[in-house]
Amino acid sequence: MKRTIIITGGAGFIGSHVVRLFVNKYPDYLIVNLDALTYAGNLENLRDIDGSPNYVFEKANIQDTAAIDAVFEKYSPDGILHLAAESHVDRSIMSPMDFVYTNVIGTVNLLNTAKKYWGPDYSGKKFYHISTDEVFGALGSTGFFTEETAYDPNSPYSASKAASDHFVRAYGETYGLPVVVTNCSNNYGPNHFPEKLIPLFINNIINGKPLPVYGDGLYTRDWLYVKDHARAIDTVYHHGKTGETYNIGGFNEWKNIDLVKLLCRLMDEKFGREAGSSEKLITYVKDRPGHDRRYAIDATKISKELGWKPSVTFEEGLALTIDWYLSNAEWLQHVTSGTYMQYYDTQYAKR
Ligand code: NAD
Ligand code: DAU
Repeated sequence: MKRTIIITGGAGFIGSHVVRLFVNKYPDYLIVNLDALTYAGNLENLRDIDGSPNYVFEKANIQDTAAIDAVFEKYSPDGILHLAAESHVDRSIMSPMDFVYTNVIGTVNLLNTAKKYWGPDYSGKKFYHISTDEVFGALGSTGFFTEETAYDPNSPYSASKAASDHFVRAYGETYGLPVVVTNCSNNYGPNHFPEKLIPLFINNIINGKPLPVYGDGLYTRDWLYVKDHARAIDTVYHHGKTGETYNIGGFNEWKNIDLVKLLCRLMDEKFGREAGSSEKLITYVKDRPGHDRRYAIDATKISKELGWKPSVTFEEGLALTIDWYLSNAEWLQHVTSGTYMQYYDTQYAKR
């Protein structure tokens, strides 16, 4: 094999799309998917590539230094794409320490292992940390996040991601570890765990359950189709400059309530229901504490310097996403059975 790459969090939503892209596009790379298989990790996401000669799965927790060392020892990787994380803001409000252990300590563990196995020469190595636009905090009604925007995280999730970004940068500066960081906006698409807005609402529309819109519904997010994020990660891994950060976004801002109404309309059309049927499920509920009003990414740098831009329009991406959920009822049923219902009841019961 020409290269060996460890992808952490490869059984999750974005990670599984990145693993698939790399396994199929680079048959001469060995792709090692390192994942603890938390509630969010699901090997069903990768059924189609399981058995590929250039793919292996290693169940390991990034909180466990011995386990990460063992994977490095076994595979001698050239690169890491680090996506493993606790990723849901509402869960971070319920249980912040889980986010500290995985997102902060887990990331520092990985940095230490990379330094130990790769240093002090580091030639041909790359530590790529996948982060979020939430580290920048909230925007007012105008303006964009650029690579120069100061960090200002508001939730335990974004604070833990900001801390991990700082550690990655510090290991680059202090030890010369070849690092690169990207900060991406909200992803959507197949395999998205139905605790996040779009898949949760698709699932609730399918089941005729209320659609819990937080606060006044006028919060704004910048949505990007997950496969376009995976393409951006491929681009940055191969062509991004060491020590740099790149913002990734969809140039696609939506107020939550407008997005929910669009989703309702598309689902009504799919089911051949009377127009307005799904909208009747919309229920305004108590707001998320510390809720960031607006995110919007200026993705000029990655677009100008590396030639990446989104390839899927929002209308196309949403239609593909809805179709995927409707044709993967078994996947949806598996991930929403068991502990999912406990989470759902705790999160939405009192709102
Ligand atoms: P996800 O929750 O769907 O998947 C996370 C994966 O990490 C799961 O497979 C889980 O099993 C694994 N994991 C969690 N804790 C682990 C641990 N301690 N050790 C090993 N594996 C562990 O997350 P996602 O939405 O796919 O996000 C992936 C990454 O991208 C995260 O770092 C997230 O911060 C970042 N990100 C996400 C979005 C988004 O919109 N979803 C946007 C920008 C950045
Ligand atoms: O911006 C990137 C981030 O996007 C990622 O780093 C996170 O991992 C990812 O979870 C996502 O965070 P958000 O908090 O923006 O996503 P979420 O889907 O949870 O919420 C999107 C918006 O919808 C937000 O304004 C809150 C609102 N919302 C969400 C849920 C789950 C509701 O109104 N009702 C809901 O039930």
